[in-house]
This record gives sequence, C-alpha cells and structure tokens, in this order.
Amino acid sequence: MNDTWESLLAEACACEKCELCKTRTNCVFGTGNINADLLFVGEAPGDNEDKTGTPFVGRAGQLLDKYLYAVDIPRDSVYIANILKCRPPKNRDPLPAEEDACMDLLRRQVRLIKPKIIVCLGRISAMRLIKPDFKITKEHGVWFERGNFLITAVYHPALLLRDPRKKEDMMEDMKAIKAKLDELK
Ligand code: URA
Repeated sequence: MNDTWESLLAEACACEKCELCKTRTNCVFGTGNINADLLFVGEAPGDNEDKTGTPFVGRAGQLLDKYLYAVDIPRDSVYIANILKCRPPKNRDPLPAEEDACMDLLRRQVRLIKPKIIVCLGRISAMRLIKPDFKITKEHGVWFERGNFLITAVYHPALLLRDPRKKEDMMEDMKAIKAKLDELK
C-alpha cells in the first residue's frame, strides 16, 4: 500500500472500524517529527487529548515533557502516538478488539516514520508491541531487537503521578534512551 502521511491521517480521522468513533470528539492521530528516530507509543487518548486532537497534552503529557527536557530530547524532535486513536469512554483500558482494529494504522505510521527506537509508554502499549506477557515492573528499560528498530518500555507517566516512587527508575530509563539515541546517530 502506498501510504502518504496525508492519506493515512485522513483514513484515521474517517475510521469507523470500532465503536469508539461514535464517542470521539477528535481522532488523535499523533504529533511531532514524522522523520523522527524516536517514536513514543502510549495507550489511548484521554479527555484533554480527545478535546484537542493531540496526544499527551494533559497532566501525564506534561510529566512526559519534563522527562524529555531533563534528558535533553526536544519534544518536537520525536513522534508521539498511541495504540488507540480514539478515546475509550471514561478512560477505561482499551478492549482487545479496539486494539486489533487500530493496530494497522500504527503499523503504517511506523513504516512511514522509520524510527530507530520505539518506546512504549506503559504496560498496555508494551503488551501489544513487545510481547503479551510483558511485565512492566520487571522489564521496563530492557531493550528488544526487532528487524529495523530497537524497542523498550518505560512506566506510563500517569502511573508515575499515582506512584512517585517509580520516578527514579523512569529517569534512569530515559537517560538510557537518550544514550542509545546518541549511539545510533
Ligand atoms: N495517556 C496515553 O496513553 N495517551 C495519551 O495521549 C494521553 C494519556
């Protein structure tokens, strides 16, 4: 399939493959540098993201921004997307059928971006993109090789807001991601 960024965006915003299209305000396709070496993939849009059409703009997003700043990775140098492009009602976890319906769009985004590194934000993304039995407490920061890119997972920033004791681990993981990015340049 010969996707262009514009055709893929239009397809996502017209998508009716699952029920979430009925309750979305905006489809949240992704944001940032479409030629990025580093791609972050979260779980699904929340309320602020649904309203604005941009991923990670609420409290969790602001915390993510702080980590990016702390390790000297400009937010506009990376691309940020989610497993789901539409908000699940009341921010419930994505249903497997919703993830199945949405994964094709993400795969095609990855093909266009061609990142060197993918970072899963949280367990839901890691279970979908790394392996179904991924354990975020034990395996955050571990690198996995996938043909054209490396993939790892960090704690979801929303979890860090609820459990600040995990912030030290997050900082170490983010430093390692920056080091790996520099190494691959
Ligand atoms: N949480 C996510 O996983 N994604 C967003 O875009 C916002 C919050």
